[in-house]
Amino acid sequence: MTNKGSDDTTTSTANAMWGGRFAAGPDAIMEAINASIGFDKRMARQDIEGSRAHAAMLAATGIVRDNDAEAIREGLLTVLSEIEAGDFAFSTALEDIHMNVEARLKEVVGEPAGRLHTGRSRNDQVATDFRLWVRDQMDAAIAGLEALQRALLGQAEAGADWVMPGFTHLQTAQPVTWGHHMMAYVEMFGRDASRFRDARVRMNESPLGAAALAGTSFPIDREMTAQALGFDRPCANSLDAVSDRDFALEFLSAASICAMHLSRLAEELVIWSSAQFRFVALSDRFSTGSSIMPQKKNPDAAELIRAKIGRIFGANVALMTVMKGLPLAYSKDMQEDKEQVFDAADNLMLALAAMEGMVRDMEANVPALEAAASSGFSTATDLADWLVRALDMPFRDAHHVTGSLVKLAEDKGCDLPDLSLDEMQGVHSAITEDVFDVLGVHNSVASRTSYGGTAPVRVREQVALWRERLG
Ligand code: ARG
Repeated sequence: MTNKGSDDTTTSTANAMWGGRFAAGPDAIMEAINASIGFDKRMARQDIEGSRAHAAMLAATGIVRDNDAEAIREGLLTVLSEIEAGDFAFSTALEDIHMNVEARLKEVVGEPAGRLHTGRSRNDQVATDFRLWVRDQMDAAIAGLEALQRALLGQAEAGADWVMPGFTHLQTAQPVTWGHHMMAYVEMFGRDASRFRDARVRMNESPLGAAALAGTSFPIDREMTAQALGFDRPCANSLDAVSDRDFALEFLSAASICAMHLSRLAEELVIWSSAQFRFVALSDRFSTGSSIMPQKKNPDAAELIRAKIGRIFGANVALMTVMKGLPLAYSKDMQEDKEQVFDAADNLMLALAAMEGMVRDMEANVPALEAAASSGFSTATDLADWLVRALDMPFRDAHHVTGSLVKLAEDKGCDLPDLSLDEMQGVHSAITEDVFDVLGVHNSVASRTSYGGTAPVRVREQVALWRERLG
């Protein structure tokens, strides 16, 4: 058998799984709008894991004979290996992954296959599969974020004392260290990972055994299946279990925030790698050329990462909109939950991996960073602070005096450290030679030792702390 995708369009016969009360099969268009196999086949492994746990429980509780359950469990492994080998014919007539697997199981093991669906419904089955799938993606996102954080830590460690301009309004504000800038993103991506961790804790309850919506009269053991599938406990309310997709929404909102952070770093890389800034050189491995302009090296990966937020946030809005206003419990609307999440997850993982590679490989242009840090009167605040400390001036007055000095330098076409002491004293007579100590960018960053500040000592402490946290 080969995997031909889902292109058969049987219309004549009623569905083998639920067609008992039907005289005719569905219209081809009905089948097309109804089927989810084209995308939910991605949950095959989770579906089979869930069914194996269910079958083991049915045997343990005496609902199904041991030998039947064993045949089911073995047969499911055969089906899984066929799917993983790409050797499985998915059928649109069988709608979704749940019925495709069960139908094939029937062919493999015969009569016992019909006993698998005892005490369960596709409603709790799909809720279980999807939770397992999203849970794996949360783990993958956390791993991707940690890898990216490690790449940033490498940059921060190398450049704990490289100076660069810190910006507000993208105007030169004060000198900061390269390491400090890198560590800002380590903090952001750390919070992103913790959002996935928090969401994982909340979602880790098993819907399996909620059945269609009301539970079941069979003496099932929901603790047992929950445990087998790595859930902390069964969901406490069967209606809630089959009808909410808030866990997927939490994944998408954490993914959206993370993608937003990625887009900001991506934007900085685009700016920094431009000929006008030349703060960094991106590696050839993560750049592309132009087919007409031979000199070009484009930061395409950064631009694409910058754009990924669009579809990820779009997925969040789409699923929120699907879920809004749905009455309890399951409605078929909820089949529209998966494609958006799959797409968002794929693109988030890709963006994280690409960003990790770019950050790891990029080379800072240390002289260019320092030159930029030293221009634009970036140490004006240091000068004002010096006037407060050395001359006991109120900060507001110091701000004013410094403004006059900046004006003077600007008129002369030079920077603050290029003014002579005479010129400075012309603005305020009490200024002394010592002021020049604070006008250099290295002194400026070294002086900002307040907790969370940009001084290289503080940066190195944070690098060490994060290295310990990431293990
Ligand atoms: N393919 C369906 C989905 O993804 C599975 C659940 C179908 N349940 C039902 N009552 N028709 O939502």
